[in-house]
Amino acid sequence: MNIVLGITGGIAAYKAPDLVRRLRERGAEIQIVMTASAEEFVTGTALQAVSGKPIRSNLWDKEAEAAMSHIELARWADVVLIAPATAEVMARIVSGAAPDLLTTICLATEAPIALAPAMNHVMWNNPATQANRAVLEERGIHIVGPGIGSQACGEEGAGRMLEPDAIAATVFNLTGGKGQGLLEGRKVVVTAGPTREAIDPVRYITNRSSGKMGYGIASAAAAQGADVVLISGPVNLPEPPGLEIIRVESAKDMFVATHEAIRGADIFIAAAAVADYRPSAIANQKIKKHDESMTLQLTRCPDILASVAALDAAPFTIGFAAETEKLAEYARGKLEKKKLDMIVANRVGQDCGFDRDDNAATVLWNGGERSFPTSSKVELARNLIELAAEHFYAVRGPETQPRLSIISNND
Ligand code: PMT
Repeated sequence: MNIVLGITGGIAAYKAPDLVRRLRERGAEIQIVMTASAEEFVTGTALQAVSGKPIRSNLWDKEAEAAMSHIELARWADVVLIAPATAEVMARIVSGAAPDLLTTICLATEAPIALAPAMNHVMWNNPATQANRAVLEERGIHIVGPGIGSQACGEEGAGRMLEPDAIAATVFNLTGGKGQGLLEGRKVVVTAGPTREAIDPVRYITNRSSGKMGYGIASAAAAQGADVVLISGPVNLPEPPGLEIIRVESAKDMFVATHEAIRGADIFIAAAAVADYRPSAIANQKIKKHDESMTLQLTRCPDILASVAALDAAPFTIGFAAETEKLAEYARGKLEKKKLDMIVANRVGQDCGFDRDDNAATVLWNGGERSFPTSSKVELARNLIELAAEHFYAVRGPETQPRLSIISNND
C-alpha cells in the first residue's frame, strides 16, 4: 500500500517516526509530506531515516516536483493519512484552501483520506472544530480518534493522538474497494432513516430518525468492498458515493423495495426507524377541523426485518433495537422473536440515539455480546461492519472469506 503520510505542527509529531515504522512493518511504502510548522516539532532527518525516502514539504521545490509532481503523488497514494492532524489542517481541508503541498495533495487525490486529530481538549471540543469534523466525516474522510487522556499541556480530555499501532491498523482497514475489503464481492442491503405514513395529502406520521446511522453503515460496508443497496426513507443527507440508493417514503414502500433488493444479498442490516403503525385510511382531501377532538384509526405496518429473516434463503440478518429502557432485555427479546443473527441495541431519547452525530451500542447475538462506547456514528458503523463481517464468515464458513486478516482497532 502506498501511503502519503502528512505530518502537521503538533506536539504529537514526535510519534511520527514510530508511526512510520508501524506502517512499514505492515508492508506500506511511505512518502512523508511535512508542513512548515511540523518541522518545529520533528526533524526531517529522522523521518527520512525511518521512511527511507526524501521528505517532501515545499510545493515550489522544482527538483522534487520534477521527480514526482504533487499531482503524481496524489495519484500514487492508496491512502492519504495526516497524523497528527491539527485543528488548522482540518479547517483548511474543509474550506478547500490549498496553500501548501499537503493540502494540495488532499484536494487532488481520489484516494481515501484519514486524519488522526491531535490537539488540546478545549480546541477539539470547540464548536468550530466539531463542525469541521462533522463536514469531513460527511464527505467520507475518516477521522481516526482522538483518544481521551492526559495531554501534553498537562490537562485531561479528548484530543490525544491515538497510538501509532492503532492508527496503522485502522488505516489498513480503509483499503476496501481496492480488492482487499472484508466484504469484497458480498451484497449488503441496508435500510436507513424514518418512514412517513400519510394521514391526508398534507400530513403524515413520522419519527426523529435522521438516517445518519444507516448511511454510516452503508458507507462502511461499501468501504469494505461490498456491493451496497441503501434503501432510504426521507432524509436530508448527501448521497454516499459508491453505492446504489433507493428512496422510499412509507413502511409499505420500504417493504417492497427491500424484498426486491434482497435477492442474492449476503447481509441485511435494518437501521431504519420504520413506523409500526400507519393510518388505516388516507383521506383524499385535507382533513378539516370540526370537532374538539378526533380519533385516528391505525393499522400495523408490515415488519420488514422479521419478514426478511423468515425467508427460506435469508441473508445474514442484523436488526437494530431502539429502546428508552431495559435495553439489553428488550433487544434480546427482538433477536429471538424475529430470529435474527445479530441485533444492535441503542438507547434513544432526547439526548441520545436519534438525529445526532454520535451513538453508543451493544451488539447481541446468540451466546454473546459486545459493547461499543459513544463515538461518532461513522466510527461506530465501521466497527459494526467489522463485527458483522467476522460473524457472517463464522456462520457462512471461513472459506468464503477474502484472503486477508481482520485487523481490529485494538490490534
Ligand atoms: O437515523 P439516526 O438519527 O442516525 O438514528 C439512528 C437510529 C436510532 C434510528 C438507529 O440506530 C436505530 O435504532 N434504528 C432502528 C429503529 C427502530 O425502529 O427500532 P425498533 O426497535 O422499533 O425496531 C426493531 C427493528 O425492526 C429495527 O431494525 C427496525 O428497522 C425493524 N422494523 C421495525 C418496524 C417495522 N415495521 N419494520 C422493521 O423492519
